[in-house]
Amino acid sequence: MNGTVGVIERYKEFLPVNVDTPIITMGEGNTPLVKSTNIGPSVGCENLYFKLEGSNPTGSFKDRGMVMAIAKALEAGRKRVICASTGNTSASAAAYSARYNLQSFVVVPSGEIALGKLAQAMAYGARILAVDGNFDDALTMVRDLATELSIELVNSLNPYRLEGQKTASFEISDALGDSPDMICIPVGNAGNITAYWKGFTEYRINERITKLPRMMGFQAAGAAPIVRDEKIEDPQTIASAIRIGNPASWQRAVNARDESGGNIDAVSDAEIIEAYIRLAREEGIFCEPASAASVAGLIKLASQGEDLKNLTAVCILTGMGLKDPTTVENHALVELEYVEPDVEQVAALLSKDAA
Ligand code: F0G
Repeated sequence: MNGTVGVIERYKEFLPVNVDTPIITMGEGNTPLVKSTNIGPSVGCENLYFKLEGSNPTGSFKDRGMVMAIAKALEAGRKRVICASTGNTSASAAAYSARYNLQSFVVVPSGEIALGKLAQAMAYGARILAVDGNFDDALTMVRDLATELSIELVNSLNPYRLEGQKTASFEISDALGDSPDMICIPVGNAGNITAYWKGFTEYRINERITKLPRMMGFQAAGAAPIVRDEKIEDPQTIASAIRIGNPASWQRAVNARDESGGNIDAVSDAEIIEAYIRLAREEGIFCEPASAASVAGLIKLASQGEDLKNLTAVCILTGMGLKDPTTVENHALVELEYVEPDVEQVAALLSKDAA
């Protein structure tokens, strides 16, 4: 027997599951909700938590939605799936496809996705198409390809993706005993903020929680179409996962923002990198740059005078740091100290530094 319980099994009463839907899993969900030790107190937020979505099977939150999308593709008898991706969707699609015997095609912006994510798609055996363009171009292309070739589209335009992703708000609510007051979340294609809001509102309607959180979304300053209220033709940011100029779920993210009394703001690359390094060095949490946008956003809110003292805030850390070793090399480099295997010499070296 397979004893692993994933998000479909755990939350099936809230998901589009019928007798023909296979209850598949790779152990996604049930990710840690970890209380901040240093960053929270430093910004006056005593009840700050991090949701470690990098602990999912392929290292990002995408697995929650992908498992649902793949289950529905299997239910419909599909054999092939396709997605456009800045890297994490493609890793997840490739992994679940491999496990459930589907062929996966992934379309990525050429030269723009983090090394580890490309390595994942390769390892899982996806067919990888590197398009000479950005994510928005790739997404436009796969929408047409999916229709033309009758391949299942597993981007967040696929409604089952968001259904699966909303389980993260159930987990947070279950863990805290009620909804938090504030969610800080990176925004790229804007599917995840939409999914979280859907999850919280459904939990509220079903009286699992007594209140709703303010949804605080954060885009990278060079890729902030929602903040600027205009499409960005050539989005730029170090956070390649959210380098998106025309988000598919734009309007739904705006609705989540407005209905929740929240906000969507921009954070600069410098602020993202600062939060990324602080998370690693003050919390022991190594996430990818896009994920750190949530914490950069919280720090920005505090610096603007927002009173965070009496509220419970959760920053969504969407993906794990190992996916993007290049950013460490470029922004958090520590010089190696080459030594002989000689205790006395090394002891002398270390005590000199301690003095
Ligand atoms: N964080 C990470 C690590 C991501 O990979 C993404 C999106 C986001 C945040 C933003 O989430 O798009 O739902 O607003 N990655 C997509 C991909 C675009 O192709 O992997 P969103």
